[in-house]
Amino acid sequence: MSTATDTSVLAARFQEVFGAAPDGVWQAPGRVNLIGEHTDYNEGFVLPFAIDKTAKVALRVRDDSTVRMLSTFGGHGLVEAELNGLEPGSGQGWSRYPLGVAWALKDRDVNVPGFDLLLDSDVPLGAGLSSSHAIECAVISALNELTGAGLAAEELVLATQRAENVFVGAPTGIMDQSASLRGAKGQAVFLDCRDQHVELVPFDAEASGLVLLVIDTKVSHSHADGGYASRRASCELGAEILGVKALRDVGVERLEEASGLLDETTLRRVRHVVTENDRVLQTVEILGTQGPASIGALLDASHVSMRDDFEISCPELDLAVDTSRSAGAIGARMTGGGFGGSAIALTPVGQEQQVRDAVVRSFAEAGFTAPDIFTVTPAAGARRLA
Ligand code: GLA
Repeated sequence: MSTATDTSVLAARFQEVFGAAPDGVWQAPGRVNLIGEHTDYNEGFVLPFAIDKTAKVALRVRDDSTVRMLSTFGGHGLVEAELNGLEPGSGQGWSRYPLGVAWALKDRDVNVPGFDLLLDSDVPLGAGLSSSHAIECAVISALNELTGAGLAAEELVLATQRAENVFVGAPTGIMDQSASLRGAKGQAVFLDCRDQHVELVPFDAEASGLVLLVIDTKVSHSHADGGYASRRASCELGAEILGVKALRDVGVERLEEASGLLDETTLRRVRHVVTENDRVLQTVEILGTQGPASIGALLDASHVSMRDDFEISCPELDLAVDTSRSAGAIGARMTGGGFGGSAIALTPVGQEQQVRDAVVRSFAEAGFTAPDIFTVTPAAGARRLA
């Protein structure tokens, strides 16, 4: 599904499928991370924003413990599950996300009833834009309201993280759901992942004559795969050897000392996280003082660090970044977990077409699948639509 279904159309379809009107319709966005990659599970800093691509759920609670779910984007047909005795690892594809949050809420002693759910989403799947968290955040917003649990955003963030980590089995941090739940129109979410403190930072590329292009390389990634987990393990090893709770506690001034203590690979992993945290802080400061037109060099440096030190890029992402830079973007980097997914390129409005054309051409010449290129702006976080 790539175009959003209208709220009333979704509600009408729900009625057709389940024979009664939904209790409501909720939506939650995907995210783009401006900067701060693989810093969240190191208790560091991130600067993502919610995008104008969303998952929507029409949901009605039931008076038993059965879950029935259907998506507009196909796959798996009508999925039925039983909430009592739900075990981590249950479900397939997108159905793991609603089940995961129901399980995580129950685990927090929320009395979650069965429900009927119709899901729609225009967040591209597997593009590194957090399509899974968009689904989880829409569902958890609905269940939080309909059960009367009234959990605060910080608690919903932790519940969705548990759904991902334990139920789905992806060892991810808290960035994506924080952006989806706490994002706001025109603002990036500066999040301290140690205490979940959020500051909204205005990010208005257009006012600076810029657009933020997303280049979906079509190389699909999976966080449940080994690459993400092994990076996380390296960071934990580095923190342990350096005697800190998390790499957040290591400043750039300790890198020289670290080089005498860590093996070569661990040092590079640590160096990425430590310098990336520093780049997030610099980006926030520059956005406040000089605006988006001055953050290009930080985006570039972030990409180089992910490519060479953290080694989570891939040829398609590198080509997207290099080509957009040569064609006029003022800064570019891969965004998200890596090993595929999307790159972002901050581009002067007048150069946008040139960058798009150059990237499409370079992909064709390299024999890569044609990328999908679109612009994003910071949009509202999760909310009820009807
Ligand atoms: C994925 C994870 C996030 C974060 C990023 C990398 O999107 O879900 O928690 O770790 O990768 O910054």
